[in-house]
Amino acid sequence: MFIAELMELKRLSLTYKDELFTLINTNREHLREWLPWVDLTESPADTECFLEAAINQYQSGQGPQYAIFSDSALCGVCGFHSFDLSNRTGSIGYWLGEAYSGKGFMARAVQALVEQGFREYDLNRIEIACATGNTKSRAIPERLGFKLEGVLREREYVNGRYLDQAIYSMLASEFQALTLMLPAKL
Ligand SMILES: CC(C)(COP(=O)(O)OP(=O)(O)OC[C@H]1O[C@@H](n2cnc3c(N)ncnc32)[C@H](O)[C@@H]1OP(=O)(O)O)[C@@H](O)C(=O)NCCC(=O)NCCS
Repeated sequence: MFIAELMELKRLSLTYKDELFTLINTNREHLREWLPWVDLTESPADTECFLEAAINQYQSGQGPQYAIFSDSALCGVCGFHSFDLSNRTGSIGYWLGEAYSGKGFMARAVQALVEQGFREYDLNRIEIACATGNTKSRAIPERLGFKLEGVLREREYVNGRYLDQAIYSMLASEFQALTLMLPAKL
C-alpha cells in the first residue's frame, strides 16, 4: 500500500524475517521500555513465529499487519491486532526503529490503517491503547483525532512494571466527519 512519497506499507511476510529481526535487535533499548515482546525476541526464529502468526491472522480475515518501508529500508511495523469481528472493532499497534522516529512516518501509517479499517474492512470502532507515560505514542491517536475514553489502571506488565493504559478510539461515524477536515496526506 503506497502511502506517501518514498514510503510504503507492505503486508508482513516471511521474506522480512532477517531484516525485521535485525531492526529489533539493534533497537532493543528503544523498544523494550514500552513493548513486552522485545526481550522474548532472541533470534530470527522468534521473528519467524511472529510473522507466521501475522500471516495466519490476515489469511483468516482477522486483519492485516504491515512492514513500514521508507526508501526501501524497513523502518518498523504497524497493523491490527486480531479483529473483534462480532463487534466490528479493531485495535492498532505500532513501533519504529529509533532512527526513523520524529519524521511523521507512524502518523501517516496509522492514518492509512484507519482509512483501511473503516473503508475496506467496514469496522465500526478502532482502538489504540498507549501506556499513559508513552507521550510519543499517545501523540499519534491525538494527532489523528481519536477520542480519549479513559485510563485502564495497571493494564499491562512490561519489563518488571505495571503500566496504566490510555484508551483512545474512533468510530466510523466520527471518521466520516473527520475525513472532510483532515488533509489528504499528513
Ligand atoms: C511510538 C512511536 C512509533 C512514535 O514515533 P514518532 O516518530 O514520534 O511518530 P510519528 O511518526 O507520528 O512522528 C511524529 C514526530 O515527527 C514529526 N513530524 C515530522 N514530519 C511530520 C509529518 N509530516 N506529520 C506528522 N509528524 C511529523 C512530529 O513533529 C513528531 O516529532 P516530535 O515528537 O519531535 O514532535 C515511536 O516512538 C516508537 O516506536 N516507540 C517505541 C515503541 C512504542 O512505544 N510503540 C507504541 C506502543 S503503544
